[in-house]
Amino acid sequence: MEGNGYVKILLASPIDPATIESLEATYDVRHAVNAEPRLLAEAISDRETVVLRSGVQLTAEVLKQAPDMKLIVRAGSGLDNIDVNFARERGIRVIRVPGMSALPVAEFTFAMLLSLARKVTLADRLIRQGHWPKADLGGALLRGKTLGIVGAGNIGSLVGEMGHAWGMRVLGCVARPTAPVGQHLFERGITMTDFDTIVAEADFLCLHVPLDNHTRNLVDASVLTRMKPGSLLVNMARGGVVDEQALLKQLDEGSTVAGAALDVHEQEGEGTMSPFVELPNVVLTPHIGAMALDSQRLIGDRAAVLIQAFHEGRLDEEIQDGEHVA
Ligand code: MLT
Repeated sequence: MEGNGYVKILLASPIDPATIESLEATYDVRHAVNAEPRLLAEAISDRETVVLRSGVQLTAEVLKQAPDMKLIVRAGSGLDNIDVNFARERGIRVIRVPGMSALPVAEFTFAMLLSLARKVTLADRLIRQGHWPKADLGGALLRGKTLGIVGAGNIGSLVGEMGHAWGMRVLGCVARPTAPVGQHLFERGITMTDFDTIVAEADFLCLHVPLDNHTRNLVDASVLTRMKPGSLLVNMARGGVVDEQALLKQLDEGSTVAGAALDVHEQEGEGTMSPFVELPNVVLTPHIGAMALDSQRLIGDRAAVLIQAFHEGRLDEEIQDGEHVA
């Protein structure tokens, strides 16, 4: 293999600045951050490694433009924006760094829960307009309420653990419920149950599932009508997990879900406008759940270690549980 200086890397997403510096010192690095498909296809054409997060689509069409591609590094956990089957067929390795993004997303879920329950962002908007509507800004306590976790995996179970510490009754469901998983959740203060029970009983319904064919539009009109009256929905998973039009309609009717906090959206990226912008009972953030800088530092470090191991031919010795995709 040629020296590292010849390894051609594409940075397709914004990652930790110190990691960028260290990659640039070692490899031939090109930047095409959140590029639209045509520019991405051009930028990737002579590259051997690509590093990306959410916000960029690594489709089969894009990957076909990169005949020398050997390694895809997902600096995070979600795989919904990568055609993993195509990569596998082409013998391209796909790895990810999921571990370090669980904590920032879990902590941010609480930022969203509290913003929503106590109308923090709404209060901030109103006070900046010269209003002091104290009497209209009452909200709900978390203690004693039911927290429903859909997808009690790495992130969801951490959220559940935090909810338990706040004095909440925590229910969780997983795609493959088994007795050991139930026991593991129980030890963290989470009662394992099924999706429908969570939908019916949660005061706060938090979504932490990956987006795939089973979870697309998981929260649709029918689910929304079965949610508890006055409940609040937090989506930290992917926009496609919630049918946004159905949510809009349900929030407008106001018979079940009373508000939503959405960090992820069906359409994301600079210039996109959420259909929820006019609603005071919706908190919107631009997919920043994992954006704790300390965590991004760790994710960047780990990505750099894995890239180096791959190009030195020792990836399989270095890779840890959860990092191998293809
Ligand atoms: C992830 O899947 O790791 C998160 O959505 C963060 C991201 O990549 O932007």
